[in-house]
Amino acid sequence: MRAAIGCDHAGVGLKNEILPILEELAIEWKNFGTDSKESVDYPDFGERVAEEVSKGNFDRGILICGTGIGMSIVANKFPGIRAALCNDAYSAKMSRLHNDANVLILPGRVIDNEAAKIIVKIWFSTPFEGGRHQRRLDKIKAIEAKVKCL
Ligand code: RB5
Repeated sequence: MRAAIGCDHAGVGLKNEILPILEELAIEWKNFGTDSKESVDYPDFGERVAEEVSKGNFDRGILICGTGIGMSIVANKFPGIRAALCNDAYSAKMSRLHNDANVLILPGRVIDNEAAKIIVKIWFSTPFEGGRHQRRLDKIKAIEAKVKCL
């Protein structure tokens, strides 16, 4: 399992807390920045990570900004990306079971570090359920193809 991770200035603190958890889970990771608290634009970092996952260079992505909303909007522009903003353990579990989410979005200014660590552990250890949920993902794929032609 290889994961790309990125954030804006509002997510740096949480990102640094999460990297040891990825180590613990034996997930190979690459950091795409930012690494300082100096103000940056979240689309620049969201784009880097989402593009890597979309192209298949990484299995999963993690993106962190203040609310998680900006990073979600950016990541879900990319083909094949199913980015899920998870503020709680239940959403993290369901985003894997039902949505086969491949990018985890975390809100650095909304949840505390301990809650985020639990979310990361659940998200990486929960498999996709398949079955009727695969049919729904196929429909999302069809929408993606249709939108491309608009
Ligand atoms: C940065 O101030 C903030 O707007 C950003 O981190 C994020 O919350 C955007 O959605």
